[in-house]
Amino acid sequence: MILKFKIFRFDPVKDEKPYYQNFEIEAGASDRLLDCLNRIRWEQDPTLAFRMSCGHGICGSDGMRINGKSALACQKLVKDFKEDEEILIEPLQVFRVVRDLVVDMDPFFEKYNSIKPYLITKAHAPERERLQSVEEHRKYEDAIRCILCACCTASCPVNQEIEAFIGPAALVRAFRYLFDSRDEGNQERIALLDHEDGAWGCKTKWRCTRVCPKEIPVTKEIFEIKKCILESKKSKK
Ligand code: FES
Repeated sequence: MILKFKIFRFDPVKDEKPYYQNFEIEAGASDRLLDCLNRIRWEQDPTLAFRMSCGHGICGSDGMRINGKSALACQKLVKDFKEDEEILIEPLQVFRVVRDLVVDMDPFFEKYNSIKPYLITKAHAPERERLQSVEEHRKYEDAIRCILCACCTASCPVNQEIEAFIGPAALVRAFRYLFDSRDEGNQERIALLDHEDGAWGCKTKWRCTRVCPKEIPVTKEIFEIKKCILESKKSKK
């Protein structure tokens, strides 16, 4: 089938303002939109810029807006689009456009790093691995599916208005450690999250949960962080 694409283009070095360019490409039903973008780049316009790596929903690098919704191009099948439909491809919202579909992810990773995204332990390292039960692991196993594609953050209405808001992806990673039985950094992390641009910035709009390509219950996990902060305060009284 012939697929029609309308793709956002902007090269800040030579373009005064962004514009949209149309492409048509023959694609098979089982092709992914990422395959189509690759073929547009290889066969029609080698200057089209976008990120990709694994091609299988693992690396999180090809997050973009597809028909107005944040998604991974490698997870979208051609068969789910109509032949006469124009597929609108744009860069993720919230972030500065570096070129075409490539956005500046530095602020995203700065926020991610701000919550100390690693296991914090106080005691000496044990001779063997730190064990935990299946039940203990289950508490955060949804959160470890996060591939940091930034689809949630780009879709968050709060992030779209308030630059300082830490955003859902960093909060999911914070959840992952707050509820890990081996971690001993709860108080440090809670202090980093207990403010208006931290966990309390989330206004429970659910967009993050709806777009997450790994189906992580993002909003629910942020709610659990808020509960954890309140319980920690209560226990200190
Ligand atoms: S290319 Fe790696 S997640 Fe899509």
